[in-house]
Amino acid sequence: MLSNEKSSDALDLSHHLSKVGKARHTSPLKGLQKYMGKPGLISLAGGLPNAAYFPFSSVSGEILAPDSFPLKTDSEESSLSWFWRLFSRSDKERTLTFTVGKYSKRPGDLDLENGLQYGLATGQPKLNEVIREFVGKVFQPAYKNWTTLVHTGNTDAWFKTVQTILNPGEGLIVSEWTYPSAMASAQPFGIIPVPVGMDSEGMSSISLRQTLAEWDESARGMPRPHVMYTVPVGQNPTGTTMGIQRKKEIYDICVEYDIIIVEDDPYYFLQQGKYVPKSDRVAEPDTDDEVFIASLAPSYLKLDYQGRVIRLDTFSKTVCPGSRLGWFTCNPMFAERLERTAETSSQAPSGFTQIYVASLLLKWHYEGYMRWLKALRLQYKQRRDYFLDCFADEFHLKATLSTEGYTAGAHIYHASLKPKRSFVLLSEKDAAYSKPLFSFVPPSSGMFLWLELHLDDHPSFSSLGYKALEMKLWTEIADAGVLFAPGAMFFATPVEDDTPGYGHFRISFSNSTPEEMKTAVSTFSTVLRNFMKI
Ligand SMILES: Cc1ncc(COP(=O)(O)O)c(C=O)c1O
Repeated sequence: MLSNEKSSDALDLSHHLSKVGKARHTSPLKGLQKYMGKPGLISLAGGLPNAAYFPFSSVSGEILAPDSFPLKTDSEESSLSWFWRLFSRSDKERTLTFTVGKYSKRPGDLDLENGLQYGLATGQPKLNEVIREFVGKVFQPAYKNWTTLVHTGNTDAWFKTVQTILNPGEGLIVSEWTYPSAMASAQPFGIIPVPVGMDSEGMSSISLRQTLAEWDESARGMPRPHVMYTVPVGQNPTGTTMGIQRKKEIYDICVEYDIIIVEDDPYYFLQQGKYVPKSDRVAEPDTDDEVFIASLAPSYLKLDYQGRVIRLDTFSKTVCPGSRLGWFTCNPMFAERLERTAETSSQAPSGFTQIYVASLLLKWHYEGYMRWLKALRLQYKQRRDYFLDCFADEFHLKATLSTEGYTAGAHIYHASLKPKRSFVLLSEKDAAYSKPLFSFVPPSSGMFLWLELHLDDHPSFSSLGYKALEMKLWTEIADAGVLFAPGAMFFATPVEDDTPGYGHFRISFSNSTPEEMKTAVSTFSTVLRNFMKI
């Protein structure tokens, strides 16, 4: 069947539920809630406080206009103008306001009477409506009866998913480099990461097939895994983006081996594309919404004709992390089980949060939110470009096509120190300048640059190993006032000291000023030069 036929409902995939996932009953009192919206009902069943006693008569907010940030870059602009515009006092913020009263004036309006009351684990109806429209237009799930369910951010959504579909002692397919918080969430439940090799698009379909085809239950001490955790866009930590072809290969393998895909995708709208060095960069044109959506690597949902994808979306990177709000898109069977899990834990995301985010989205409308997302993507692209330009200013960068390891297929930049006195003949010491000290593939999405450190050239590499050297260098950089994330923590399985290979740092470009970025790169250069004893 073609994945875009959208001719059928999801398969029955209930055999993937964990023992805990199956055992959850409807919370006894929450079960009554489905009657609550019934017109004319006199409900004396629940312990609902009377809205008259809520001390909030209204909540209001001032939000940025959806077109607050520009949609196109101007090649004439200085590389800092994007940032300058952000904070320039003369460029006053344009804002819109909203107010939500206690009692609604018109049917269907948001109000505090319901919004701040105990609510459904599925979320406030108005918010769910907006989310559903968005998912349909942007992610375009390939089966008919997909559904959405709000959650309190992807961290908690993953925690709930683990409990719902994984049993202790089961394996979990992950990329060899992966998001450590997701592993930390699953590990205490006795879930064992099963790392799969990567290339420049993230998880390799060849490695995945090999891992599954060669699975030896007795040697591995566990059955073949039935769940995959993946961050396909702005992969954390490597910054890769997986295209439709690779997703299709992986999806087909998951159909063949009956695997559920959990798509944790917080960076979906931060797809920045290829890095182009400053000298060759051209102005970016504006695009309409359809072209913008089509330019983004599609979600697994678009291929998911069986309902085996549980997609996690969050407002953390597109609105703000403090909202603690996001949503699942999945088949109704998983949604119902996740709802039961929520009923006895978070109950529902905070009413305030839901009211604020729903008000923002209703005020902006779909078109305004798309306008915001398009500009946000550009903001992060400019940050990424500026940060990499800082590396290009500080180091000599040479690009080659990588053919091996997790960078295979990408243009990888090798960074060596720029000679201070280029006119003198290279002495033996100066020759070190031409040796790469670290390499990186420019991230194509997300917030991070992933550096590979050539610590094997360090004089103490044979005695200390790369993990100890990585920590030593990390400490020296931190002591010099710049904090990176050490790479070893992103490896799916614990790193041994004597593992051959490189050290790594994950460096964020999402939240610092241009001056801080520049200083960080120059501090890194000074510390690295001393550290490598050149
Ligand atoms: C891959 C990944 N998943 C989840 C999260 C956290 O998302 P949330 O704020 O929605 O819990 C992050 C944030 O850093 C992330 O990188």
